Amino acid sequence: MSLGDTGLPRRDVPAAFDVGAAAYDRLVGASPGYHAQLRLSARRMRLPADGQGLRLLDAGCGTGASTAALRSVAPQADIVAVDASRGMLEEARAKPWPASVRFVHCPVEALAENGVTGPFDGILAAYLIRNLSDPDTQLRALRSLLRPGATLAVHDYSVRDSRAATWAWHAVCWGIIIPAGWRQTGDATLYRHLWRSVLTFDGARQFRHRLRDAGFAAVHSETMPGWEANIVHTFLGDAPR
Ligand SMILES: C[S@@+](CC[C@H](N)C(=O)[O-])C[C@H]1O[C@@H](n2cnc3c(N)ncnc32)[C@H](O)[C@@H]1O
Repeated sequence: MSLGDTGLPRRDVPAAFDVGAAAYDRLVGASPGYHAQLRLSARRMRLPADGQGLRLLDAGCGTGASTAALRSVAPQADIVAVDASRGMLEEARAKPWPASVRFVHCPVEALAENGVTGPFDGILAAYLIRNLSDPDTQLRALRSLLRPGATLAVHDYSVRDSRAATWAWHAVCWGIIIPAGWRQTGDATLYRHLWRSVLTFDGARQFRHRLRDAGFAAVHSETMPGWEANIVHTFLGDAPR
């Protein structure tokens, strides 16, 4: 798989995750705050207490880290978790889940064809939108799956609005993520894709515009505490009432 300036051709991304799947949990487990940050983004969705009666979508669930984050704030909700990488989903399915969590192997571009239909009371898309060929079309499609007033949370890296964040991103990628990924899997493609795709992804201001242009209301974003401030963000938008 060859990398362009913005990372992998987006159609090749799920296959790159297949290669990285077995090492994924080990690598993110070594990243302080990875799971706590996902839980914080899930909390920022402000779902009603314990999630009783809610249907939630985890778009691009990977090995289930974001699914677990949704469960931490809405343990009673029904959760549909989808991913286009068979390898990542196998890792997710190997974990213990209650019957209220269902995993579906499909690209986010083909949810309806795979039996995933709305309405949802909330959608979490963690580290997904940056990896899509046509994020605008998919953001509009996700909006149309939400009940009026329900929230989409996009959890992702965005560094372009901050020079300090951009330099920190170069340093963490070349100092830690790319060498560790290569050591764990013998293939650095996915981690170099991560580096480049984040560098060329929207700045936070631009991504908020993108959400508004896709028809979301009450759009805002919050970053993370600690050293990943201005590097990792939760972008929030509601389906119009
Ligand atoms: C960085 S992982 C994040 C996984 C999980 N959300 C988490 O927070 O740990 C991104 C996931 O998006 C998936 N993905 C990429 N493109 C996709 C697409 N078009 N449709 C569905 N999943 C996709 C990848 O297979 C991968 O598992």
